[in-house]
Amino acid sequence: MKTRTEGLSFSEGSTAFVYDTIVEAVSPSDATVALLRDIISAEDYVLDLGCGSGRIARPLAKYCRRITAIDVSTVMLDGFLARGVPDNVELLEADLRVSSTIEQTEVADVAIAMLGGLQYVGNSSEQCAVLENVRHRLRPGGTLIAESFSRPAFEKLIGSHRFPFGEGDAGGTIGMDVETDNALFVVRSSIMLNSGEDWSFIERFRPSTPDESCSLLESAGFSNPTLGKNAPNDGFMWITATA
Ligand SMILES: C[S@@+](CC[C@H](N)C(=O)[O-])C[C@H]1O[C@@H](n2cnc3c(N)ncnc32)[C@H](O)[C@@H]1O
Repeated sequence: MKTRTEGLSFSEGSTAFVYDTIVEAVSPSDATVALLRDIISAEDYVLDLGCGSGRIARPLAKYCRRITAIDVSTVMLDGFLARGVPDNVELLEADLRVSSTIEQTEVADVAIAMLGGLQYVGNSSEQCAVLENVRHRLRPGGTLIAESFSRPAFEKLIGSHRFPFGEGDAGGTIGMDVETDNALFVVRSSIMLNSGEDWSFIERFRPSTPDESCSLLESAGFSNPTLGKNAPNDGFMWITATA
């Protein structure tokens, strides 16, 4: 049985647990939170767009005033709930492509979108609509911080690959089949943990080059798009922009 969103479909079972294990091994949350703390201040109200299982929102919560954590996937939000939701975090099940659902939030100081949550879109006009929806939920001068899927990184992965990751119960192997029509990438991943648990998922997303990311952000009304420090995972670019 599958739980499906447009861009991402998960096999059920220990989804969020296996997700956290693989992601922590390839993209440690401490490194991401350290980068965010350089930009976010204690008074800020933050939107976490495509928050997943709360990998970043949970540790970030103690460094800002409040977080609304948004995701379209019930499975991922259930994983977040199971891990515990800090007092200053609220969860919102919503699709970032739909302006009326994201409008349920108050206007925020900062929006973060870690590990590509803004790029599970079918085409560039949908991509631009997502970015516009996000800009409207930021105060003028507010900041978007995104880890954007990097096209050059994913082009190198076209084909089938198998990698080991992590160690002991926090490790295993990941198989990846990567296809593209040159715009949309389809990645089928299957993960086998050393503990015996397994999980598979399919992602459909539009990675971008640095120039494409900057011009998309400008088309959506953001200013000053800036490629920042390297993201903790080199499949992604770290980008900031001003609403
Ligand atoms: C790769 S995960 C990243 C999760 C989290 N940001 C992190 O760093 O661990 C991408 C997340 O984006 C969510 N997502 C994809 N398309 C979405 C949409 N249209 N609206 C809201 N969330 C979406 C997925 O459900 C998934 O949880």
